[in-house]
Amino acid sequence: MDSRISARALAEALGGWRGRGPAYESLADGIRLLCLDNRIAPRTALPAERELAAALGLSRTTVAATYRSLRDSGHIESLRGSGSVTLPLRRTDPGADDRRDGVIDLQQASPAAWPGLPAVFAEVAQDAAALLSRTGYDVVGQVGLREAIAQHYRDRGLPTGADEVLVTTGAQSALHLIASVLLSRADRVLIETPTYSHGADAFRAAGARLVGVPVTPDTGWDLDRAAQTFARVLPALAYLMPEFHNPTGRTMSRAEVNAFVDGSQRAGTILILDETTAGLDIDRQTESTAFPDADRIVRVGSLGKTVWGGLRVGWVRAQADIIRRLASGRPVHDLGTPEFEQAVAARVIGRLDEISAQRADLLRAGRDAVTRALVETFPEWDIPTVHGGVSLWVGIGEPVSTPLVMNARARGLLLSAGSRFAVDGGHDRRLRIPFTAAPHTLERAVDILRAAWDDVRGTPVGAALDDLAAVV
Ligand SMILES: Cc1ncc(COP(=O)(O)O)c(C=O)c1O
Repeated sequence: MDSRISARALAEALGGWRGRGPAYESLADGIRLLCLDNRIAPRTALPAERELAAALGLSRTTVAATYRSLRDSGHIESLRGSGSVTLPLRRTDPGADDRRDGVIDLQQASPAAWPGLPAVFAEVAQDAAALLSRTGYDVVGQVGLREAIAQHYRDRGLPTGADEVLVTTGAQSALHLIASVLLSRADRVLIETPTYSHGADAFRAAGARLVGVPVTPDTGWDLDRAAQTFARVLPALAYLMPEFHNPTGRTMSRAEVNAFVDGSQRAGTILILDETTAGLDIDRQTESTAFPDADRIVRVGSLGKTVWGGLRVGWVRAQADIIRRLASGRPVHDLGTPEFEQAVAARVIGRLDEISAQRADLLRAGRDAVTRALVETFPEWDIPTVHGGVSLWVGIGEPVSTPLVMNARARGLLLSAGSRFAVDGGHDRRLRIPFTAAPHTLERAVDILRAAWDDVRGTPVGAALDDLAAVV
């Protein structure tokens, strides 16, 4: 057995797991979802029944019934003397095999590749001989690409040299590198909740303690909480998505930017600005956030959402000595970004304005279709208005996000429950609905969601149709 999860960590990861049926079955479904999301790895020891019962305020009999249900469904095995251990997923688990025909996967918010990309690939392939004569990777990135990225910042009014840029394998590896180099165990990290979950995971993996600051689609960042956090815990880092925050789609106002700049300066905190979603401006009416240039600001960028996630090209823009520290800490987990992809990136980066306009059209079609379908289908839900980004952070009114997602999975719609984006529990009344898929796919997804919702809420699926028949 490789690892174990404590009762406290499991209770926190579960968030609100209670559905309509018996408590033991809802809890079993909550644990199944954590396994499906790979948040509990195979061969992880679950807490003893007594400990989990205490952490969740349940009777031991309920937890015993939960574990029995998980054993019966093949998700865990219980061995005398060594407790209950999760098993690898079977292909028959709802949602375990994403390649099932007709499955709609909205777990990732990844737009399709920019249509101009095949031509750029073909151009770069013509230089293959020169490329293949070199090593093909290096720890800081090709100077031509670093210069192009620096130019991209200079065009935005941020004087930048190539020595202030490190090319990474997507923004995710940039976040992991920053966490492993700039953080010490038990350091505090101020982080938005909800947040981009793999970013939070990178800080957790470095041993940091995360302190959440709420963000909502309607009211933005909780500045009182941010000020208290800066003052009380003196965070080493603050991880923020100031423009088209994932998942809320919210962009910081001038006052919000100023509050984070002030708080971080007083506390000596390094601000990590994740700008992966910053170019995804659909309505072109959002004023750019423009954090000032400062030594203690580190920016992370990526071509993942604007050009194609499959390129795996991202970067860090920071002071030259931070870049040098990151470069020397990198080889332990990654020797560099492949040069072919870097050569492609160097050719597209100067065209980001044109590419962003095309992305805006694609995202607008998805956003408008899913918003319309959701408003019509779920008048009781809180559907936010967003001007950019990749998703809607929908309010579903009741804390049933996990059972809803489990029910939808069994119907061939894969979504992530609200708690997946939480830092310290909660968000069970929320669902992230990405609008990066095609409009007709999103409309089908909303239909499936309606059937799942009726099931979870106890309304027979056919009831709405029967009513309609009676009227006609
Ligand atoms: C806010 C945010 N940061 C980072 C990433 C990771 O990006 P990449 O694909 O460049 O690793 C994502 C991807 O979804 C994201 O939404």
